[in-house]
Amino acid sequence: MRSGSPSSRDDMGVATCGLLMLALSLAFPGSLPAQSDTKVLYDARCGSCHGVGGAGDGAAAKALKVPLPSFTDSAFAAGRTDEELTASIANGKAPMMPAFGKQLKPEQIKALVAYIRQLRKPSAK
Ligand code: HEC
Repeated sequence: MRSGSPSSRDDMGVATCGLLMLALSLAFPGSLPAQSDTKVLYDARCGSCHGVGGAGDGAAAKALKVPLPSFTDSAFAAGRTDEELTASIANGKAPMMPAFGKQLKPEQIKALVAYIRQLRKPSAK
């Protein structure tokens, strides 16, 4: 949570984020922070391509010339191990999936793998 990382200082962003976190923690006492930290991270870093819900329909998705996987599709999650998902996030995947291994901590990538897994629709068919 408070790791004191020297990340970028964007006053507006920090204030907005702080307010959002406060509102969320008031709304869902006890369920924070791991889950919502990861959601904020996913929405900011991945959602533009993968879509906030993981369906591969983010705003940037149309500009990409390659199809995006749908994290909501049970076949996707079933066909990948955690190690494979971790490797894809850390190392990227040609041609358009960026590598995040240098920007994100291993535990953040681990949390994202878990987050992606729970985007799956329980009985998607
Ligand atoms: C610039 C757009 C873009 C962003 C940003 C992005 N991705 Fe992707 N991602 C892609 C594309 C395109 C693919 C499909 C790659 C392929 O199969 O050719 C992909 C594939 C994946 C896969 C599946 C890899 C596999 O095993 O087939 C995972 C998991 C993934 N992304 C996670 C993430 C996560 C987590 C983030 C945020 C930290 C993220 N992506 C950010 C474009 C993006």
